[in-house]
Amino acid sequence: MSPRLLSRTSATLFALAWTTLSATALAQTTPTLTPDAQMQSQLHDGPWWKHALIYEIYPRSFQDSNGDGVGDLNGITQRLDYLQQTGIDAIWIAPMYPSPQVDFGYDISNYEAVDPQYGTLADFDKLQAAANGHGIRIILDMVLNHTSDKHAWFVESASSRTNPKADWYVWNDGIPADGPNVNDYQRKYTHTGPKGKVVPPNNWVSLFGGSAWEWVEARQQFYYHDFYKQQPDLNWRNPAVEKAMFDTMRFWLDRGVAGFRLDAIPALFEDPQLRNEPETGGTNAQGDPNLKKIYTDNLPEVHDTIRRMRAMINSYPNNRVLIGETYLPNTAALSAWYGGAAANELQLPMDMLIGFGTGVAYKAPYFRQYLNEAETQLNGAQPLIVFDNHDNVRSIDRFGDGQHNQLIAKGIASILLTSHATAMTYYGAELGMPTTEPTRKEDVKDPIGITGWPKEKGRDGERTPMQWTPGAQADFSTSAQTWLPIPPSYTTINVQTELADPNSLLNWHKRLIAMRRDNPTLRDGKQTMINTDSTAVLAYVRAATAGQPSILVAINLSNQPQTLTLDPSTAGVAAKSAKTLLTDAPELNAVTTLNTTLPPYATWIGSLQ
Ligand code: NOJ
Repeated sequence: MSPRLLSRTSATLFALAWTTLSATALAQTTPTLTPDAQMQSQLHDGPWWKHALIYEIYPRSFQDSNGDGVGDLNGITQRLDYLQQTGIDAIWIAPMYPSPQVDFGYDISNYEAVDPQYGTLADFDKLQAAANGHGIRIILDMVLNHTSDKHAWFVESASSRTNPKADWYVWNDGIPADGPNVNDYQRKYTHTGPKGKVVPPNNWVSLFGGSAWEWVEARQQFYYHDFYKQQPDLNWRNPAVEKAMFDTMRFWLDRGVAGFRLDAIPALFEDPQLRNEPETGGTNAQGDPNLKKIYTDNLPEVHDTIRRMRAMINSYPNNRVLIGETYLPNTAALSAWYGGAAANELQLPMDMLIGFGTGVAYKAPYFRQYLNEAETQLNGAQPLIVFDNHDNVRSIDRFGDGQHNQLIAKGIASILLTSHATAMTYYGAELGMPTTEPTRKEDVKDPIGITGWPKEKGRDGERTPMQWTPGAQADFSTSAQTWLPIPPSYTTINVQTELADPNSLLNWHKRLIAMRRDNPTLRDGKQTMINTDSTAVLAYVRAATAGQPSILVAINLSNQPQTLTLDPSTAGVAAKSAKTLLTDAPELNAVTTLNTTLPPYATWIGSLQ
């Protein structure tokens, strides 16, 4: 499950439920990368995304350029210097397309434009050109599972049973309300159709509350929605849907975007027999029965679609990338999303086990297991690890003990940036911005926080405005009223203050990022866990690469000093001495041997001789 609610409720909101252009046309439509970006691509072997640090931006919350209290695309453009100086290679922008904003952009009503509150298509093109000038690529969020109910496709589809788009969404007549297999939950959703009283065809529940089936009078039928009822699921069994969606992806690829983060991608297909999901007992924060999603999530059919999508992406130059929002139960399931050994599906399905897995805790054995599985059980494919996003309580609060949060956040940054994986982070994580939940129901913006209050307070807490300075409104906006309030922590946790403090979390991130960028061993060296019997210290070796020495990383994940002999020989590396490359504990700067004492929560990174 995703741990977003661990501190608040036992519900499993985002759990496993989320679980060709011709060469001439391309030359005309694909902006050439500027010298900066080209240089970065050529510095090291392999496609750019293998060594990237990808930074998620929630556009409402990053920078407001026009004083309306909501972030926008021009705001992102204004902050490109910061992103470049921090060492970010690519930004993933959460949906900025026209949308009724029921799910803050994840309900898209037009896939080929920009929502006026975020700017215009011309603003997007300016951002894209300026980002490339800063050596930063843009990844867009692509929501393929569902559209907004205000999208023209759905409006047409819902208008009758005979219109040209009648089969673009998942429609069903329902079943007789007095039938043998109908339960009380289904009966709550009784409607009168042409054949009398009917209920939804099965027990499927929306992740955001209530039955997953919504009645439409004009068709006298139900449609299926995995998320809000304003987010009807597309019918991916209809080839016209695939074509239309691939066309929208081409629209942005032709404008030069570097790839897509595919929203809720395992949810694309549903069981054609519409079988009931098994109930697992009890109810969730929204009061619905808990279900095991085996008929609405991760169906095998999705992989055929993904292989075709990969072929489409591959027809573009400059290594475009497909990243998946893949909450999966284990590493074997994750491997399937790469296409297994064939590696012909997603280049970067997110490994959510490391950052958000079941039993998540700031404990060495947990990270050791999942980092090792990612290294050894993905057929050599590139893992993508991530600890923070716009759907989960921030990692500093999930892993923090309340007393050593800054130190623990430094440890998380160390894992993110020194392990053998592509790294993904979320605005504000580099500062240690805390999750700041609303304290009153009337202040909640995320609808699940309104329907789930007080058990589920929604996702506003991890979406608060970026904290730039200790000045008015944290310099996020000139408006006295911002879409979510600026958290009180902005006076000390902000970019300006942290840049001035050599020991800040932001400067720790910058040092790690710079080291990773410049060091071939950290970029590509094979990763092997060592001292595997330690319950407190996570330690691994990155094997020598490109004539550079091997590197040893040791992180004390406990609140006690840990004395141990680090032993790289079990990773096949014979080392007589060590030299500190980076540490957050001053007393470790002079380390020369592998017999050492790591202070509580300290990170030590050294080269081996
Ligand atoms: C996953 C997104 O990250 C989340 O914010 C959204 O609510 C759902 N998918 C539905 O699109």
